[in-house]
Amino acid sequence: MITMEDIVREGHPALRKVTEEVDMPPSNEDKETLNEMLQYLKNSQDEQVCDRYGLRPGVGLAAPQINVNKRMMAVHFEDLNGKIYSHGIFNPRIISHSVEKTYLSTGEGCLSVDREVPGYVPRYRRITVRGTDLEGNELKIRLKDYAAIVFQHEIDHLHGIMFYDHIDQENPFKEPEEAKPVDR
Ligand code: NI
Repeated sequence: MITMEDIVREGHPALRKVTEEVDMPPSNEDKETLNEMLQYLKNSQDEQVCDRYGLRPGVGLAAPQINVNKRMMAVHFEDLNGKIYSHGIFNPRIISHSVEKTYLSTGEGCLSVDREVPGYVPRYRRITVRGTDLEGNELKIRLKDYAAIVFQHEIDHLHGIMFYDHIDQENPFKEPEEAKPVDR
């Protein structure tokens, strides 16, 4: 079981590496790791398990955050319309995106960042992601608003990018152009 002790924090070199593509079909070991990542998110959102193991609640986790240099990510959350997104994804890739941007009005957070980093993180408002799911099936998902933000945050981790890299240094709360905010 993954706990906070397994999650590396900012400053760790794993968070700045570009990850390696996972061989397809995925090995049992890679499937197990990815399944554990998804399980962490579920555990972290279960009040009892969360309390018992001192987890920090999260909606997404990327392999570099557990010091695994592979292109794998997990998400588990409900969007503002109540739609559930629960996926472990191998080799996710954004294959198209809108011109229109969005951002979380409350800013973003990360299980690997133990501090609040204020500021808007500009993201594409709509993206299409392609990858392979935990069963080894091809996956193609279209995402919008909050869901698109979560996926872009995790896919960034696979390229060694942290959310605060996108925050305007001079003016952290500068409204991104052509952007509609998401309130959560
Ligand atoms: Ni993160």
